[in-house]
Amino acid sequence: MKEQLEALQQEALAKINDVNEMKNLQDIRVAYLGKKGSITKVLKGMGKLSPEERPVIGEVANNVRNAITEAVEEKAAELEEIALNKQLEEETIDVTLPGRKVNVGGPHLLTSIVEEIEDLFIGMGYEVKEGPEVETDYYNFEALNLPKDHPARDMQDSFYITNELLLRTHTSPVQARTMEAYKGQKPFKMICPGKVYRRDSDDATHSHQFTQIEGLLVDKNVRMSDLKGTLDKFAKHMFGEDREIRLRPSFFPFTEPSVEMDISCKVCNGEGCSICKGTGWIEILGGGMVHPKVLEMGGYDPKVYSGFAFGMGPERIAMLKYGVSDIRSFYTNDIRFLKQYHHA
Ligand code: FA5
Ligand code: MG
Repeated sequence: MKEQLEALQQEALAKINDVNEMKNLQDIRVAYLGKKGSITKVLKGMGKLSPEERPVIGEVANNVRNAITEAVEEKAAELEEIALNKQLEEETIDVTLPGRKVNVGGPHLLTSIVEEIEDLFIGMGYEVKEGPEVETDYYNFEALNLPKDHPARDMQDSFYITNELLLRTHTSPVQARTMEAYKGQKPFKMICPGKVYRRDSDDATHSHQFTQIEGLLVDKNVRMSDLKGTLDKFAKHMFGEDREIRLRPSFFPFTEPSVEMDISCKVCNGEGCSICKGTGWIEILGGGMVHPKVLEMGGYDPKVYSGFAFGMGPERIAMLKYGVSDIRSFYTNDIRFLKQYHHA
């Protein structure tokens, strides 16, 4: 029996030595040490042994069992280490590979221009106001000296929602709203950026939805030269000292006198092109001295107070500053166009 057990040990150790998969190793362990394993089978014959032989064989059996268990454990550790090394090798990261590019967004060109203009005016002490895009006929027209059936309403073709409600055609209603809020009591200066809507036919310089920035200053003894100085400072800041700027007389029912400001066309350098319609100039804003009737409707006494106002088009300003040849580029959102203007 002793020889039998020792032969099984030799056989098992040889098999364990040759194995190279964890599953096979476990099978070997079960085949020798399991309940139905070969060692167990031999030990079932123990009953037939004499009392003297029994402890001797018992010890041999224990040794054999320990030797096999130990060999299995050693082999298992070895196989585990091999598996781990293999995994580490397969999962190594090649740090020399080029990285994946992260696409970073940035502000839209129009947003940047509006913020740049805001910063300039905030620096001059202006507050930034807001007003509703869905506006009443009263604020969009009447409070600006444009009573119903006034022919100058045709200057701005409107999107009406009801007889009394429309999409605002300009940011000028915020003039009336601000004066009303200040109840004719104190001097102030404000700007108001926002979206406006007109039934204009879209072309290179016109969009049916565009942006305006309104400006309004109300104080005592405000003069046309104050407006001119402010607009000049603004234009030089946006376009540089050398750019040609002109103010020409114009008409708005809410200012008297009224002006419009043009900037020399950058697309053709003033020579005349389809963008400036051959004139060499592009209009960027309208303005003037606040009409006494508008001050009065806003609650300010025109004998005490005077003011100037302007309304500018940031799309046109961006076009002139950066040489953008079509206003529709701001809205078609071609990523190649937008990316050119990510500076930050
Ligand atoms: C007005 O809207 C007046 N509310 C401006 C004003 C304010 C005058 C305060 C006096 C006092 P106008 O319609 O000209 O004016 O528009 C002002 C500016 O908006 C234009 O100079 C131009 O830069 C821009 N603009 C006008 N229509 C369009 C359009 N369809 N697409 C893009 N920009 C436009
Ligand atoms: Mg105009």
